[in-house]
Amino acid sequence: MRRVVLTTGANSGIGLATVIELARLGFDSVGSVRTQARAREVSRAAAAAGVKVRTVRLDVTDAGACAEVIDRLRPFGLVNSAGYSAAGAVEDVDDDEARLVLETMVLAPMRLARLALPHMRERGDGRIVNMSSVYGLITTPLTGWYQASKHAIEALSDALRVEVARDGVKVVLIEPGGFRTGIWREATATLERRAGSRYGPAYRRAESAIRTADWMMADPGGVARAVGRAMTATSPSPRQLVGYDAQALARVWNRLLPTEIKDRLARISLGL
Ligand SMILES: NC(=O)c1ccc[n+]([C@@H]2O[C@H](COP(=O)([O-])OP(=O)(O)OC[C@H]3O[C@@H](n4cnc5c(N)ncnc54)[C@H](OP(=O)(O)O)[C@@H]3O)[C@@H](O)[C@H]2O)c1
Repeated sequence: MRRVVLTTGANSGIGLATVIELARLGFDSVGSVRTQARAREVSRAAAAAGVKVRTVRLDVTDAGACAEVIDRLRPFGLVNSAGYSAAGAVEDVDDDEARLVLETMVLAPMRLARLALPHMRERGDGRIVNMSSVYGLITTPLTGWYQASKHAIEALSDALRVEVARDGVKVVLIEPGGFRTGIWREATATLERRAGSRYGPAYRRAESAIRTADWMMADPGGVARAVGRAMTATSPSPRQLVGYDAQALARVWNRLLPTEIKDRLARISLGL
């Protein structure tokens, strides 16, 4: 029996690359999608890659659906990848938007992990891979809620990893830098929607930085391979920074630069 791994947000970007990579590695790879049309996109991409990927319909903010999917699949592995940019200055994000960010990228991954744990414990073996970001380690302006969600997933994963270690369950954080996926299109669209804000000029600078950075971004295959290692290594590294930009930012931005200098650089580059 092939071991089941559920990856959320599987129709695009890192999630899509991950379900294909896990199928290649021999897992019964199941990807969650929100619509039937997106399920067809996953099947087509998997077929083009010469592998088979199953899909399940799941909006991760639906607690009942999360329970139903986990009970049905009883996964060996869970990859919490579903997410979005939540772009916007702190002052521009209202309570409902902020709640949705935390619901999607903090509560939902932890709920899915909590639901999957009894099945993993019963088997004495399991893997939970949480898609964090280099923005779980550093903070810059204009995506404060996104970064708050990634800092939270870092803290929760660090706690969970130790709590479940004796049951044979391994918890891994993946911390990518910039990879070419749908999240950047979605970020630009969100910033454009907020264009009338007092932060409008800073948003325009951020958008142009995203467009300029596009050619430097790699395809998300490298992140998928890191997830593959997290699923297959006997002792996977508990956190994996993926990409040279992530490694440079984590090392230089946080460790070498004093806060006053970081703030000054961010203000100059965004005109804040
Ligand atoms: N790309 C990067 O540079 C980068 C860097 C660091 C971390 N990450 C992280 O990587 C993960 C994947 O992002 P990506 O870059 O691959 O972006 P993406 O291409 O936009 O994919 C995001 C996926 O999440 C799904 N999703 C969003 N909200 C959902 C919900 N409530 N329920 C179920 N699925 C939901 C989307 O589904 P729909 O198509 O239905 O909206 C889509 O499949 C995210 O957690 C992101 O924070 C990305």
